[in-house]
Amino acid sequence: MLDSNRLEGKVALITGAGGAIGAATARLMAARGARIIGVDRDQSSLDALKDDLGDALLATVVADVTDEAAVRGYVEAAKAAAGRIDVFFNNAGIEGPAHPLPDFPLADFQRVIAVNVTGVFLGMKYVIPVMLAGGGGAIINTSSTAGLRGTGGLCAYIASKHAVIGLTRTAADEWAAHGIRVNCVNPGPIESRMMRSIEQGLQPGDNGAVHDAISAANPARRYGLPEEVATMVAFLASDDARYVHGAIHAVDGGRTAV
Ligand SMILES: NC(=O)c1ccc[n+]([C@@H]2O[C@H](COP(=O)([O-])OP(=O)(O)OC[C@H]3O[C@@H](n4cnc5c(N)ncnc54)[C@H](O)[C@@H]3O)[C@@H](O)[C@H]2O)c1
Repeated sequence: MLDSNRLEGKVALITGAGGAIGAATARLMAARGARIIGVDRDQSSLDALKDDLGDALLATVVADVTDEAAVRGYVEAAKAAAGRIDVFFNNAGIEGPAHPLPDFPLADFQRVIAVNVTGVFLGMKYVIPVMLAGGGGAIINTSSTAGLRGTGGLCAYIASKHAVIGLTRTAADEWAAHGIRVNCVNPGPIESRMMRSIEQGLQPGDNGAVHDAISAANPARRYGLPEEVATMVAFLASDDARYVHGAIHAVDGGRTAV
């Protein structure tokens, strides 16, 4: 009997837990019975999560996902708080600035790659052994429609989100036979701080023109909501997704269908 609603008894570790998509997913997973460990570099966003989740929030950890010692630290903290990790939503990410490629500062390029690629790599590097010890689990990496399509001005972000797909497929091949499912979620434009920043980057002083153009080009004629990404992530985390491995899951209003 399929029951995609239940995550009862599962321990879910979420990076970028204080952000729009991370927090919406933490709320949904908690409502479906999971206990949550939230990781973010920003303490105040984790404090807000505490108000939302109450006892379902087992622990919060302030950590920079690009720092190997800090990643080891958040995984140790999760083990200490819960003894296991069943679900890992490897989701922290930054957008970086928008510039034509020849003008893109190297430092900005390297920072986006550090957070969005190295951070995702390090998270899996330290979580997989803990999942193995617990008999398996589900990892969901956050890529983007930016992992499937190009957008002028966003070379670092686009390259980083393509790389997340490569990491997902590699890890799925390595660990599927050991009971660890690895998938990625590819949100399209979501109503969020990040999209406001990207809109401003693409057209400084923008007063909604980029938002309108992106919406008009989308088959659904609108942006998505963080909660609409969360439902996909919660499904991928659940046992109902037991044969879903190494796949790309667009939640994009049809953006990549056309
Ligand atoms: N918002 C969108 O439209 C959209 C679309 C596609 C993909 N995504 C991806 O979804 C994920 C979440 O995005 P969001 O919209 O919730 O953005 P957000 O900025 O609201 O949340 C990202 C969170 O990650 C945290 N973070 C950033 N760098 C970090 C670091 N080095 N270490 C630890 N935490 C760090 C931030 O503090 C923030 O709380 C990102 O990977 C993003 O690239 C977002």
